[in-house]
Amino acid sequence: MAIGLTTVNNGERLATTICMINQKGGCGKSSTCFHLAGHFSQQGLEVLLVDADPQGSLSQGFFGSQFVETLKPHQTLASAFLTSATTAGSCSPIKTSIERVELVPANQHLARFNVPEPEMQGLAQYRLDSLLAGLPDYDVVLIDCPPNLFACSWNALLAADYVLVPVPPEDFGTQGLRAVHQAITSAQILNPKLKLLGHVVTRYDGRLLVHRAYEQKLRKLYVGQVLTTIIPEASAFKVALSCRQPVTHSSPRSKAALMTAELGHELIRRRDETERDQRVA
Ligand SMILES: Nc1ncnc2c1ncn2[C@@H]1O[C@H](COP(=O)(O)OP(=O)(O)OP(=O)(O)O)[C@@H](O)[C@H]1O
Ligand SMILES: [Mg+2]
Repeated sequence: MAIGLTTVNNGERLATTICMINQKGGCGKSSTCFHLAGHFSQQGLEVLLVDADPQGSLSQGFFGSQFVETLKPHQTLASAFLTSATTAGSCSPIKTSIERVELVPANQHLARFNVPEPEMQGLAQYRLDSLLAGLPDYDVVLIDCPPNLFACSWNALLAADYVLVPVPPEDFGTQGLRAVHQAITSAQILNPKLKLLGHVVTRYDGRLLVHRAYEQKLRKLYVGQVLTTIIPEASAFKVALSCRQPVTHSSPRSKAALMTAELGHELIRRRDETERDQRVA
């Protein structure tokens, strides 16, 4: 069943911007963006990926480290922050090898802009929002954030319609989820359209009792906010990355690809339910 993130709303295309946030490193933020882009492309959607992490993992996933590290600031998201006091910079997205998937890349040049206490940054809080406003329309925009709540993640929260929190089934306290939720609540004051799409359990190994226990605990803690779809720990994700292709393209029949598609469909269902509830309210 082909379900688009784009819905027709009085003849207008309604694009959706989703950012992936968690302070925890290695929880699958970049992987989720990378593989979901493959799924949405297969659905016929125009996808923009924004690498908002100075580590540049998402960019390197498509183009390799050698290419990404040599990109000049104006070819990356850093250009959005290289501005005068009143005007934001711009940056042209790069086409990837995947049809309909383009990327605003990032590398080490973004690091100096990723400052703590981003709420104190005035207009610099809106650099990513301004950048996206100046680009053509895409059906879906996925923003990959670094493992902290500094300026890049904050910019993503102020630019997005939805936030998705990838959560591995480990001690939730050590993942700083409380701070993540506080950041979302604070961002909603400046960006009232921002909504929590949910938490997605990633890197799950159902053979491990501890993973099963943490998954249940997460569902108890965040009733209704945990996606039904669970992303398993699977070598196909790593193999796909080494082939520089989303798993939906490198191994389309794998469980990893099926679960990625399942995740894409559930995100759309939840997005549509949220929009419907808002219209009714
Ligand atoms: N479901 C999975 N199964 C197997 N390997 C995975 C899975 N998810 C992520 N990985 C691997 O784990 C590593 C970290 O994943 P990823 O880069 O997506 O995490 P991240 O949250 O973006 O990390 P960071 O916070 O450093 O940006 C990568 O090598 C990735 O290929
Ligand atoms: Mg990452």
